Amino acid sequence: MKTILITGASTGIGRATALLFQQAGWNVAATMRDPSRASELAALPNVLVQALDVTDKASIDAAVEATVARFGALDVLLNNAGYGLFGPLEAVTPQQLERQYRTNVFGPVQTMQAALPHLRATRGLIINVSSIGGRVCFPFNSLYHGTKFALEGVSESLAIELAPQGVRVKIVEPGGVKTDFAGRSLDVMSLPGVDLYDASLKSIMAVFADPARRVDYSEPENIARVILEAATDGSARLRYLAGKDAIAMAAHRAGISDEEHQAQSVVRFGLQG
Ligand SMILES: NC(=O)c1ccc[n+]([C@@H]2O[C@H](COP(=O)([O-])OP(=O)(O)OC[C@H]3O[C@@H](n4cnc5c(N)ncnc54)[C@H](OP(=O)(O)O)[C@@H]3O)[C@@H](O)[C@H]2O)c1
Repeated sequence: MKTILITGASTGIGRATALLFQQAGWNVAATMRDPSRASELAALPNVLVQALDVTDKASIDAAVEATVARFGALDVLLNNAGYGLFGPLEAVTPQQLERQYRTNVFGPVQTMQAALPHLRATRGLIINVSSIGGRVCFPFNSLYHGTKFALEGVSESLAIELAPQGVRVKIVEPGGVKTDFAGRSLDVMSLPGVDLYDASLKSIMAVFADPARRVDYSEPENIARVILEAATDGSARLRYLAGKDAIAMAAHRAGISDEEHQAQSVVRFGLQG
């Protein structure tokens, strides 16, 4: 029986993935900041609910060790925990900047460090949840994109570095997903007293809130299925786009230049000078 450790398993993609892998006969270490939120998961056989805050190295190390102590080995690490930071870059506070990169970049790196000795023993696999935002950029998401581009670069390099050891690294890139991501998980930056960005922000928020845009959003269960495929297809494939919208956006972006993308984004999001 194989074992997966998942970060951010309290809600959304992480929770759906924990449930799917459990149903598929895996041992699941479902980790989260507040394990009291996981009574449903904790009641399932072969599920270990464990505290893990990706910004706290001691909790990462303890959760990895507890997983191996309980299930005997670790086959897959899923770095899923993360959140978005939206607004003008100019508005970010040092605390917001630090929390975004500590959570979305440093956290996955430290979790990979803790898991690697065990993954080497099983010739296992790391799956990092990036985003379509790890390859296509929207305005007013600069710092979030920065984290996902960073995670993609780390993953791509590490995949080559670890190949001789038989440990694979994969990247899953969801498009829009119906989770808490755009709600409680979104940190919004604002610049009090400066109205320079107001019209553009209003316009981009209207685009993101448009129900027509959400038609192609995925359910978290769809993304979980892509993660299960990545974990079990036995391939050395690096990237898995997840969701109809992600596939369409990536294809469109690949066919245009940087300058065309910039010009099209200004029009599409109704940005004003
Ligand atoms: N939803 C989308 O449209 C979308 C699109 C592309 C990529 N993604 C990526 O998918 C991943 C999961 O997001 P989601 O859509 O499932 O949103 P979600 O439902 O808001 O889940 C985010 C998870 O991350 C956890 N988390 C945040 N900070 C953490 C920390 N310091 N330590 C441990 N866990 C932490 C949250 O835990 P708490 O419950 O404790 O807050 C929650 O479990 C993220 O990496 C996100 O960037 C999402």
